Amino acid sequence: METLGIDIGGSGIKGAPVDTAMGELTRERLRIPTPAPAKPKAVTEVVARIVEHFDWAGPVGVTFPGVVIDGVTRSAANVDESWIGTDARAMFSKATGLPVVVLNDADAAGIAEMAVGSARDQPGVVLVLTFGTGIGSALFVDGHLVPNTELGHLEIRGKDAERRASDHARTEGELSWGKWAGRVEEYLQRVEALFSPSLIVIGGGVSRKSDRFLPMVKVRTRVVPATLQNEAGIVGAAMAAATP
Ligand code: BGC
Repeated sequence: METLGIDIGGSGIKGAPVDTAMGELTRERLRIPTPAPAKPKAVTEVVARIVEHFDWAGPVGVTFPGVVIDGVTRSAANVDESWIGTDARAMFSKATGLPVVVLNDADAAGIAEMAVGSARDQPGVVLVLTFGTGIGSALFVDGHLVPNTELGHLEIRGKDAERRASDHARTEGELSWGKWAGRVEEYLQRVEALFSPSLIVIGGGVSRKSDRFLPMVKVRTRVVPATLQNEAGIVGAAMAAATP
């Protein structure tokens, strides 16, 4: 089945049709810069433009970087506060005239990694963690997603973990790979103490550079980089729309 996946990020909104059985984009993806401020109406217009660009008429899956319950966005750590309590699914659906599924961005990336990526067919407790502007988390138990886990907001040394260990924290604080790896290690140790996962998948743009930091990260759990990297959100969103 082919569905359209759209990934709403802090700097870009990206979309492409996806073959959901293969987990592959079937056309070149379109990226439109995220409007500033990224308020619901402006973002909805971009979602509608992406649908139009692909002349799309089927189901659409859209990711959002916050808690999403029944299509309603419930948190906004790194996006405009006006998203809190917005019925994103209703807005996107009205603007496009199509059935829409909305889900957390890390949950979408996790769905893709579980289906066709680094965590394929992995039983037990699996955590997919995305390191970008924030830290996103997707928790799976025998392949079933526990949505909206929000583990980027665990408190470490009195701060939100993502303020110390996201990729944004690395670039903004001009941290060396070694120093940042230490923070990632501390974060992963906390996560493994709480969940005892059998596998941790590291996603987000920085997973492309995993050879720079993963060898320095010492934890008990097996840790692997994501395979889908930047496309995981699009692919996972499309997969969620294919099996609502
Ligand atoms: C948000 C999560 C999101 C993550 C990655 C966090 O700040 O609270 O919902 O998954 O950033 O975008």
